[in-house]
Amino acid sequence: MFKILGDTGEHLVVELDGDEVTVPAGVSVAAALLYLDRIPTRHSVVNGLPRAPYCMMGVCFECLIEVDGVVDQRACQLQVRAGQRLRRQLATSKVESA
Ligand code: FES
Repeated sequence: MFKILGDTGEHLVVELDGDEVTVPAGVSVAAALLYLDRIPTRHSVVNGLPRAPYCMMGVCFECLIEVDGVVDQRACQLQVRAGQRLRRQLATSKVESA
């Protein structure tokens, strides 16, 4: 669905949800996920709805993902690196309202 503009043809391998996947080098983690069509990146803790990268500039926090064991990283603010371990935060439990 998404295409990387100015793709250099260089690629690298990262781990996404336990699978090895090949992504273009030099792009953000969010761009790589969109390129792979691996969205949503998480489910809302408020209402459980699927979320995906939106602003691509670090403002909306819709792209939160686990990177190398650290949760709630903004995927749009990190560049993909070879061997990176990415996990979409899909099983987050909902916050119950009173
Ligand atoms: S896409 Fe908005 S903060 Fe990452």
